[in-house]
Amino acid sequence: MLKALIPGSFDPPTLGHIDMIERTASFADVIVAISINIFKAPLFSDKERMELLKDICPSNVTIVTFNGLLSDLASSVGADLIVKGVRNTADYEYEYQMAVLNKTLCGCETLFMPTQPEYAHLSSTMARDVARHGGDLTSILHPKTIEKIKLKNGGKDGFLT
Ligand code: PNS
Repeated sequence: MLKALIPGSFDPPTLGHIDMIERTASFADVIVAISINIFKAPLFSDKERMELLKDICPSNVTIVTFNGLLSDLASSVGADLIVKGVRNTADYEYEYQMAVLNKTLCGCETLFMPTQPEYAHLSSTMARDVARHGGDLTSILHPKTIEKIKLKNGGKDGFLT
């Protein structure tokens, strides 16, 4: 079985992320790698993102955190490929550069997986914004993620402070 690495910030994981993870898990052993960026204040801590992804991903998916180069992680876990969801041409331009760099650094190929149309407008940034303003998250996030956001808000719907 192929070993596929799916990296990202996942702050929070959107329905688009979950769809991509599930589709990849249908043909590969999946390692979801949560990038820890010490320069950004996240909505969910790395520990919370880890717990959340364990909760909402298929049970055969492995979840790890990393804070170095993706190419180093790919080498250390013996990944056969990196999988990236691509929503539009802007994503492609950015992902193309990273794919070539990662191939140069560690030899690992990147597979671009087209996002399903119903998720192509979603991003974690927009999800955080809708959450902060108390909007309806049901078309953006998994119910368990929405529940965790509600808990951050003292169990209430509405504005996240
Ligand atoms: O969900 P995101 O924030 O778009 O994910 C971006 C991520 C984490 C996949 C990318 O920034 C990354 O690979 N970071 C690790 C550091 C690294 O390898 N940088 C060189 C990329 S070519």
